[in-house]
Amino acid sequence: MQKNMKLQAAEAAIEYTHNVDIIGVGTGSTVNYFIDLLEPIKHQFEGAVSSSEASSKKLHALGIPVLDLNTVGSLDIYVDGADETNKHLQLIKGGGGALTREKIIAAASKQFICIADESKLVSCLGAFPLPIEVIPMARSYVAREIIKLGGHPVWRENFITDNGNIILDIHRLDIFEPVKLENTLNNLTGVVTTGLFAERSADILLLAREEGIKTLTR
Ligand code: A5P
Repeated sequence: MQKNMKLQAAEAAIEYTHNVDIIGVGTGSTVNYFIDLLEPIKHQFEGAVSSSEASSKKLHALGIPVLDLNTVGSLDIYVDGADETNKHLQLIKGGGGALTREKIIAAASKQFICIADESKLVSCLGAFPLPIEVIPMARSYVAREIIKLGGHPVWRENFITDNGNIILDIHRLDIFEPVKLENTLNNLTGVVTTGLFAERSADILLLAREEGIKTLTR
């Protein structure tokens, strides 16, 4: 059933792709449905900017050109999933480890469209462990600082990001002030990116429910 809802959310996002030349494309199982849906309409687009090697590979396989963000400049839309969202469209992302490139594309996009099934909507962010990307030599230092903040960091072993860094997943956080926590974590030396998307939240959330799509905006 959840698979079907992910597809529904992806279908709803296709409605936002009319008159868009270059699409920002995220990472994850929900976005994979979206990429598949782009295939039959690929001639409408110049190409896509991708947030991960995995999505790039999938786009290439379907014959959709993958473009460099530096040459593209700003994007009209960015479509991506989330691990958790609150009603303010602040997100936890990075379950797939692609958080840094996701955050860069979100920052460079005019409209961030989040696609998710209703299981992702929570009243307080933090039940899903918050991923942060960390420079490898800073792993222990950053972990100790996070413990001081009340979190429980767990090293995602045998995982290296597309940027050559490691991920710490922070458990046991009740994130009552997402913007504040995002800034605090960003300020820890050695942290590349946090999976909290609160400063730059989504603009539109297409939430798939049993009874159909609900559209939430900021
Ligand atoms: C990837 O790093 C994440 O930010 C994904 O956007 C997130 O994990 C959602 O994935 P699913 O669509 O597979 O739930």
